[in-house]
Amino acid sequence: MATPVRLGVNIDHVATVRNARGGVHPDPVRAAREALAAGADGITAHLREDRRHITDSDIEALSRLCAEAGRPLNLEMAVTDEMLAIALRHRPHAACLVPERREEVTTEGGLAVAGQEARIEPVVKALADAGMRVSLFVEPSRAQIEACHAVGAQVVELHTGRYCHLEGDDRAVEFERLQAAATLAFDLGLEVHAGHGLDYVTAPHMLAIPEVRELNIGHFLIGEAVFTGLTSAIHRMRAAMDAVP
Ligand code: PXP
Repeated sequence: MATPVRLGVNIDHVATVRNARGGVHPDPVRAAREALAAGADGITAHLREDRRHITDSDIEALSRLCAEAGRPLNLEMAVTDEMLAIALRHRPHAACLVPERREEVTTEGGLAVAGQEARIEPVVKALADAGMRVSLFVEPSRAQIEACHAVGAQVVELHTGRYCHLEGDDRAVEFERLQAAATLAFDLGLEVHAGHGLDYVTAPHMLAIPEVRELNIGHFLIGEAVFTGLTSAIHRMRAAMDAVP
């Protein structure tokens, strides 16, 4: 039987709710513990420059939790000296470089690796030299995938946000772009992940791309947890993924 595609659960928005009142509840570390117990293969968290959800102390506690549980922590981070220093201090299993603009509501597009190779390559190298699996969050285009390979990334995470927003023929065209990008990345020796905006319907669609090895899902699962509980939401997502032949 083929190895199941991994499910990384992003717990950022547990921290968003917590921060709405400035206290300690709900605790993203408790959510991470519950997610792992429910079958998440790893935890993803984005420490943003403005600390709007996850904080430095969350990263410290999540690092400890994942180390104790023997499961990977995937730190999403902007390409800045500050974030590089934090990643090198905690040395999570994986680091995913993402674009960041203060005024955006969420990570709106992929990282422009093509054209910024000179800025990104040393950061990829520093993270990889420290033992992290480095992934780059990019749009599914040939130029971006080739640039990811050129700067020495081990993984590309394909941005699925556009796919999730589109409908009908436009969605089918975007699927073809995702498939072509995944094939190219795989042929270049890169591991392929996908994420952003995925839900019970669209996550299984990504598993129709045979090169995809990991999905990272946050907002939808945390939203569903309000109605069904986090464990149940993760079980249902896992079941939807496992139902793909
Ligand atoms: N992957 C990356 C690189 C992201 O930046 C995000 C959003 O933080 C996600 C996956 C998860 O997206 P969503 O919260 O929409 O599921």
